[in-house]
Amino acid sequence: MTALKTKNSKLKTRAVPPRRVAPKRSEGGWRKDVERILITDEQIARRIKTLAREIEKDFRGRETVVVSLLNGTVIFLADLIRHLNVPLRLDFIGVSSYGAGTESGELIFTKELRLDVRGRDVLLVDDILDTGKTMARVMARLKLLKPRRIKTCVLLDKPARRLEKITADYAGFSIPDLFVVGYGLDYAERYRNLPFVGVLRPHIYKEVSGHAKK
Ligand code: PRP
Repeated sequence: MTALKTKNSKLKTRAVPPRRVAPKRSEGGWRKDVERILITDEQIARRIKTLAREIEKDFRGRETVVVSLLNGTVIFLADLIRHLNVPLRLDFIGVSSYGAGTESGELIFTKELRLDVRGRDVLLVDDILDTGKTMARVMARLKLLKPRRIKTCVLLDKPARRLEKITADYAGFSIPDLFVVGYGLDYAERYRNLPFVGVLRPHIYKEVSGHAKK
């Protein structure tokens, strides 16, 4: 028994309930929709450290503007920049393929860059390079702002799906053409909070669109 002071009484005693065993993480949330884990959180964490070292070598001594594409990149970005030992400022561009489908469709810009990147070194960060349409459009837009240089960094690269002639300067993992979610990547805005990159069960996205993008 533990004595607890409550608001309305001087002193009351109350039995502290026995500690419940934490439910297995797989019992709740969206994990059941994942067929298998493609890249574990440990693998991601390790790779981010080596990516950060690669980036540091190229950006050493230069004030960098990290430009991150909303929304999928937020988890990767947060982990990456904590390992980047370079002076940096951070800004975001909001861009999204239209609708909740699985194909890269029309791109809409939902937030413009606020920081001035003229003459600056820019590190453009995204979660996945798929068809390359997003990155190509954003690069074209950024170049108009006359940065000194732009380097691109993605967590995942899916070369089999590329439609644009574009490669990432830094890529965490090259993956096959599988529908992946988690660690920021969504399907219909879901699954972003899964700590790993997993393959979504096909029946989930087939119910909606019949085709996989990510
Ligand atoms: C996803 C992802 C990339 C883009 C890659 O964004 O975050 O930005 O698609 O696809 P692409 O190479 O075929 O253009 P999405 O539009 O789904 O928005 P999100 O970041 O909010 O998930």
